[in-house]
Amino acid sequence: MDAVADRPDPPVREMEAASLSIDPALEPARPRTFIKSIVSGEVGVLVGQKVVVGGWVKTGREQGKGSFAFLELNDGSCLSNLQVIVDAAVYPLSELVPTGTSVLVEGELKKPPEGTKQRVELRVEKVLEIGPVDPAKYPLPKTRLTLEFLRDFMHLRARTNTISAIARIRDELAYATHTFFRQNGFRYIHTPIITTSDCEGAGEMFQVTTLFSDAEKLEKELQQNPPPSESDVEAAKLLVKEKGEVVSLLKSSKASKEEIVASVAELNKAKENASKLEERYNLKPGLPQKDDKIDYARDFFGRQAFLTVSGQLQVETYACALGNVYTFGPTFRAEHSHTSRHLAEFWMVEPEIAFANLEDDMNYAENYVKFLCQWLLDNCREDMEFMVKNYDKTAIERLELVSSMPFERISYTKAVQLLVNVTDRKFENKVEWGIDLASEHERYLTEVIFKKPVIVYNYPKGIKAFYMRLNDDKKTVAAMDVLVPKVGELIGGSQREERLEILIKRIEDSGLPLEPYEWYLDLRRFGTVKHSGFGLGFERMLLFATGIDNIRDVIPFPRYPGRADL
Ligand code: 4AD
Ligand code: MG
Repeated sequence: MDAVADRPDPPVREMEAASLSIDPALEPARPRTFIKSIVSGEVGVLVGQKVVVGGWVKTGREQGKGSFAFLELNDGSCLSNLQVIVDAAVYPLSELVPTGTSVLVEGELKKPPEGTKQRVELRVEKVLEIGPVDPAKYPLPKTRLTLEFLRDFMHLRARTNTISAIARIRDELAYATHTFFRQNGFRYIHTPIITTSDCEGAGEMFQVTTLFSDAEKLEKELQQNPPPSESDVEAAKLLVKEKGEVVSLLKSSKASKEEIVASVAELNKAKENASKLEERYNLKPGLPQKDDKIDYARDFFGRQAFLTVSGQLQVETYACALGNVYTFGPTFRAEHSHTSRHLAEFWMVEPEIAFANLEDDMNYAENYVKFLCQWLLDNCREDMEFMVKNYDKTAIERLELVSSMPFERISYTKAVQLLVNVTDRKFENKVEWGIDLASEHERYLTEVIFKKPVIVYNYPKGIKAFYMRLNDDKKTVAAMDVLVPKVGELIGGSQREERLEILIKRIEDSGLPLEPYEWYLDLRRFGTVKHSGFGLGFERMLLFATGIDNIRDVIPFPRYPGRADL
């Protein structure tokens, strides 16, 4: 017999055998089946299967004089609940029925009696785990709650049908975004959240600084450990002088080397002590100052830093190397707007395309929005139907319309002409060439005049950011905004100024300093290229898709003036 054949079993089998002998308490549970796969599965295949299901009780009621209970269980995998039946012999029913209770149960899928609306239900054989709820204290009762009320329960509101449906739609839109850009040859670039350049030049940035906490720490430290007085410092300086005199004396009297070395050491110690005392004496509570201004050289980054308002400028550096790129991340604006379409922290999708002009930019924007709409129609039916039933009857129609019809494209000048001629409506903000279109104007164009998305292009340079390409008329820039019904501005974009001299002038004319933009100018100094891009407000896209009225309800954790819960 050879050595290999001598061995009783191959090593893999030995490992399997070892794993079978482990403590049963440590064995993994039977994998949990998602309710989505049960409610969408084929009844014929499902009935008779043993499954483990975990979720939160939406409603529970005891029946048959307390002999069994019906639980409507939701696990967040889809909008639908699974009907679960538990006998009193299996578990104390009163603990299972309160709304909000979590359970992990094992049982068999059965066909419910004829005439009930469920296709399949679960007969529980074992309650594996439970997270109880005291119904007297649970803040989200079964009754229909307003979205505004739910904003006070940011940590629990995802348990409601509406917020969980929005979360799934949001996730689908994020996945669709990555799919669209990948299909079109774009690379995903992570741009920084902390930045030292103001992209929009609109002065709406949140500052990132440790100066305040540093100042507070110092103040506390100075209280606990008071700084030396002026006379302490004087005394220490005097000591240095005396020690210096001793050294000179020893040297001039030709004292021994040892004596001199020892006295020099004492002098150095006195000097060190004096400089430490002086340094502490000079510590001042409050923010560090230089020339009567805050000294940002002493801040964390050695200069002023902010939360980004847009990843555009940084992503341009990658567009000018990788060609087609995009960034998708949180952006921050310290605007004090209390509108239903502004957040202080929101997510933006920003593609940037090399060798592309404004028309290419508009084409990408239109195709991307259409792709998102079609994606929801194909992948999000149940949640979209919920939105139609509860929030906006036209939500699905809108997606169908937008995904199938070409967008209108008009110049800013034409848009102003159309608005000036409106007679059936009085605008709060007067329309004339040169104004920044207000939300009421944008919505009138898209909802009343065209009844579909409209791309407005070539805006006056005075109302747009410095990086947008100056048109030959020298009055307008190659900018474009995509306006959609229900929301107004969904996308803002432009062709970028690729000509160095003109860009420098635009920065200066905008009243911005050149120094922080030198790196941005280098992109034009070295191998400049025509390029374009845009930014889509991700929450605005959610408002547009779902028909929800307030932007605070389509982001998991909204931040706006006065509120930053959790
Ligand atoms: O038009 P904006 O300011 O454009 C930019 O930031 C460019 N740097 C984008 C680019 O070209 N890469 O913002 C883009 C979009 C707006 O159209 C709007 O949908 C959304 O971002 N947005 C907001 N969404 C929620 N809350 C706010 N405060 C928003 N400000 C802008
Ligand atoms: Mg804009």
